[in-house]
Amino acid sequence: MAKIKTFFQCQACGYVSPKWLGKCPDCGEWNTLVEEKKESRQGRRPSGRSEPQPLNTITSGKEKRTTTGIKELDRVLGGGVVAGSVILVGGDPGIGKSTVLMQAMAGLSKKYESALYVSGEESPEQIKMRAERLSIDSDRIILLAETSLEGIIDTASKLNPGVIVVDSIQTMYTEEIFSAPGSVGQVRECAARLMLFAKKSGIPVFIIGHVTKEGAIAGPRVLEHIVDTVLYFEGDRGHPYRILRTVKNRFGSTNEIGVFEMTDAGLSEIENPSELFLAERPLNVSGSTVIASIEGTRPLMVEIQALVSPTTFGMPRRTSIGVDFNRVNLLAAVLEKNAGLHLGGMDIFINVVGGLKIIEPAIDLGIVTTIASSLREIPIDPKVFMFGEVGLSGEIRAVAHAEQRIKEAAKIGFKKAVMSRTNQGRLKEFFGLEVFGVKDVEDALEATLGR
Ligand code: TYD
Ligand code: MG
Repeated sequence: MAKIKTFFQCQACGYVSPKWLGKCPDCGEWNTLVEEKKESRQGRRPSGRSEPQPLNTITSGKEKRTTTGIKELDRVLGGGVVAGSVILVGGDPGIGKSTVLMQAMAGLSKKYESALYVSGEESPEQIKMRAERLSIDSDRIILLAETSLEGIIDTASKLNPGVIVVDSIQTMYTEEIFSAPGSVGQVRECAARLMLFAKKSGIPVFIIGHVTKEGAIAGPRVLEHIVDTVLYFEGDRGHPYRILRTVKNRFGSTNEIGVFEMTDAGLSEIENPSELFLAERPLNVSGSTVIASIEGTRPLMVEIQALVSPTTFGMPRRTSIGVDFNRVNLLAAVLEKNAGLHLGGMDIFINVVGGLKIIEPAIDLGIVTTIASSLREIPIDPKVFMFGEVGLSGEIRAVAHAEQRIKEAAKIGFKKAVMSRTNQGRLKEFFGLEVFGVKDVEDALEATLGR
């Protein structure tokens, strides 16, 4: 008889302990260990044995891709859906995961015989209501309200659809594990089983995963290394813009983004995000500047705003939205030390407009100049943009893809670029722009604020 094994697993990081503990020794979270049971089978999974082969005897099959018809989605996937791949789409509840995948199903069902949409969250009637809103109607999209993984695999094997969506992994359970749906053990096992199924059948599977308040899918990042591709759906509830970001992709580049707008009739693609993000920019006010950022392979012009005001509390406050908080603190310290700005008694608020998140260091130059612009109340010329990393001794460092950045800026009407001297020296083409190479922070403030 199969033996039932009991263990305790941390729901935050996946740590396994034979006995219950109040605090997880691995991630330090309190009260996250939950009892889980698993049948231990002696034989384990039967694995197909394979023979070792020399590298040069293997012919690389070019992977077969199917486009979804949604350009922004195809871009983040690396050019379409690869047969037999498993794609995890994560994001906050209500951000639009079910919507984008329903739209993708509509596109894919034109290429495949059928597309299977499995939902453990909504009834077929509810899904139908959404589809009506998106003006999607097809006999090739098959809905299935099911939460049992065995049931799903059974149906999928019989139906043999071209693609499967599992909405969401947290509602699915496999009969092999006794813990509740949504627990780490269940989520991991279900994903692993779907992966096996996808690889065996060649059917691509989209898995929707909810993000916990800490921002990780299903607590631990256990899913991320199981699946082939991880996409995160980001965006601010208050803004209509949604960004689909590749975090991992075995079949394409990472950090690629797709930009969408949530409308009454679903998500619509945005092909010129720079223009959109700059549309409402106030001109000739202090504390606002534009940086040329690169997300994946795509240049994106973004506005950064700073508000610097005397603090009313003992401790000055530093708040940042869309950029790393520690980075802002660091850059404020660089400004104090190397440009002689007095920021000690000042609150500093930084905001990246449009609910965007920028992680690349090229944003540094933008942050320091907006802070200085707000403090000195000098507006930055609206036709100026910049990019560059700032080092701890105040030097401006070169960043990659300078030409791509200035090309995008020139396209939407900017006139003057500020960047590191090294970047300037390496430029082969100026795209009709006036280019300023700056050496350090003081130089940069001189070039953008005039002093
Ligand atoms: P949904 O795709 O259900 O989110 P998720 O699956 O990530 O939880 O989308 C939910 C939100 O999107 C909801 O607040 C309504 C809004 N929405 C629109 O604004 N327009 C639309 O056409 C649709 C379908 C949804
Ligand atoms: Mg949903």
